[in-house]
Amino acid sequence: MKKWNTASVKAAKGVEKLGCCTAYDSAFARLADEAGVPMILVGDSLGMNMLGYETTLPVEMSDTLAAVGAVARSVKNAMVIGDMPFGSYQCGEDEAMRNAVAIIKAGADAVKLEGGASVCPLIKRLTTAGIPVLAHVGMTPQSVNSYGGFKKQGKTREDADKILEDAKAVEAAGAFAVTLECVPAELAAEITAALKIVTVGIGAGPVCDAQWLVMHDLLGLNEKTPSFVKKYADLAGIVRQAFASYVNEVRASKFP
Ligand code: KIV
Repeated sequence: MKKWNTASVKAAKGVEKLGCCTAYDSAFARLADEAGVPMILVGDSLGMNMLGYETTLPVEMSDTLAAVGAVARSVKNAMVIGDMPFGSYQCGEDEAMRNAVAIIKAGADAVKLEGGASVCPLIKRLTTAGIPVLAHVGMTPQSVNSYGGFKKQGKTREDADKILEDAKAVEAAGAFAVTLECVPAELAAEITAALKIVTVGIGAGPVCDAQWLVMHDLLGLNEKTPSFVKKYADLAGIVRQAFASYVNEVRASKFP
């Protein structure tokens, strides 16, 4: 198997659908990589899944860099995407450039950032500097406070048109792929047909070129999940059972 890169991801459009997921640590990244996951996102969802926050907003660059390093050191073939945390690219382009460079130096092959037309000058600057960008439009979780909750976006024709325009803008700015999060399936299909770059859907129906699932949802480590999630395992049950068996065996002098 060859290492996935921007060229092979782009070439997959219309040929092969890509099942991609998040990972935030060495053990799970290695397993996802061995299973053939083409793109692993070190998402800022690590705030909820690893650090116990309610939203992605408190995630710091130091959290991201530690997780990107752990994942990058543990995979052979997956392309590693480092998510730019809230505050790392909103306070000026020079600071955003420095933070993106730090994510690449930590081992990521590309960065992801949220936003449409408003982040296009930054996408142009990053890609010109040789940093591949995976864009993210639709429901962008770093804007949770503006939405008043994690709410599906693009439900009216006017909102849908704005998201379609954002998707076209990030493609024109040089993004090699774009995440479509929590938008109607029909809109995701329209965007997927309109773009030459790969669309990576999450809660955006079946027509996208690729899909994300948050690892903790996919593996059933999170018991409460969004309605679009399919759990491919029940690790919460297995892990809880293993801990309980261990505690019981020590208590009963059966182990060691
Ligand atoms: O941080 C994350 O996990 C993400 C995905 C939901 C795309 O941004």
